[in-house]
Amino acid sequence: MLFEPFPFSGYHLKNRLVRSATYEKRADDDGFVTAELVEFYEGLAKGGVGLIISGNVLVHTSGRSVPQQMCIHNDFYIDKLRRLADAVHDLGGKIVIQLVHGGRQSFPALLGGKQPFAPSVVHDPSTKITPRSMDDREIWEIIEAFGDAARRSMYAGFDGVQLHGAHGYLISEFLSPHTNRRDDYWGGDEERRFHFVEEVYRTMRGEVDRNYPILIKMNADDFIEGGLSPEESSRIAKRLEDAGVCAFEISGGMYESGGKTIRPNIDSPGQEAYFRPLAGLFKERLKVPVMLVGGMRSREVMEDILRKGDADLISMSRPLIREPDLPVKMRDGKEKADCISCNGCMRFNKLDVVRCTELKQ
Ligand SMILES: Cc1cc2nc3c(=O)[nH]c(=O)nc-3n(C[C@H](O)[C@H](O)[C@H](O)COP(=O)(O)O)c2cc1C
Repeated sequence: MLFEPFPFSGYHLKNRLVRSATYEKRADDDGFVTAELVEFYEGLAKGGVGLIISGNVLVHTSGRSVPQQMCIHNDFYIDKLRRLADAVHDLGGKIVIQLVHGGRQSFPALLGGKQPFAPSVVHDPSTKITPRSMDDREIWEIIEAFGDAARRSMYAGFDGVQLHGAHGYLISEFLSPHTNRRDDYWGGDEERRFHFVEEVYRTMRGEVDRNYPILIKMNADDFIEGGLSPEESSRIAKRLEDAGVCAFEISGGMYESGGKTIRPNIDSPGQEAYFRPLAGLFKERLKVPVMLVGGMRSREVMEDILRKGDADLISMSRPLIREPDLPVKMRDGKEKADCISCNGCMRFNKLDVVRCTELKQ
């Protein structure tokens, strides 16, 4: 099934493999697409993956969590982003752009010394950052920024946008009862915690064509006491589906939950697909495609997931850092990714670009 074409939001993916959003550290200091970045995405497109989701792209300068990250907070970024989308299309690929605001997981060193903001003042012991709480004006400003970013993404020629609603960044912070302690329109109960992503979606939809694909990556579970649970998250997903979100990527964890998102040392089928048990609730509640990410390494496990209907699409990050041509190799008979999940690629503060540290350069 892995290499059967898949109908997706008005077009066909050539297979069921997705490159999950992966920060590349290849933009220039101002966040513009570079020639190196275009070449990098050409490598992924040639490698045969059915759908590429870009690394996270910043919608507003107040949400910067990594250096040399692609940006889209201004119309000036459109031209070079278009070059990237065109390069993928010229090679027969499809590419969706991931949009993000870092929230409390942004760093003062990348914000000109400013304190990051978030829904509520909740200290993050993993980064030792205590954010300040956003006021109403700031919340609407960020919602508008997501809307503007969606419009720019469509003009730049991307095949859709994916909201980064997972991993403890701003959207995930509004959804999570752990990081959202507000008692106003934006927080309190499940309904009010939903309002931020609802307004973001509504604003984006108003800026793009009626059928332009809007996807979301969500935490099924924050893996934190008092955080978002699979039951609640899948209910929220249903509401987003009713609003018009066309695909969901299921992930989990935030910085504070410590190592749940990008798990190391996956070396047996039993350790693979570590969010698979959580995807069932989403598959039960949703009609639109569900992508599963996290630890998929072998064809055996991927095919089993598809056959049993636990997900519709198989999404991978680290294996494609090591082998951008893994899909082509698997199509030709390769059984398992070479990635050993050592997480060397995650030490990007020390790396010039995000790359596999196991491979000789
Ligand atoms: C170097 C690196 C950068 C990542 N950047 C992003 C990102 O920009 N957006 C995102 O949603 N997830 C990001 N992730 C998480 C992956 O998309 C994925 O959810 C996670 O690595 C688990 O999948 P895997 O086992 O296939 O690597 C990143 C992961 C790695 C290793």
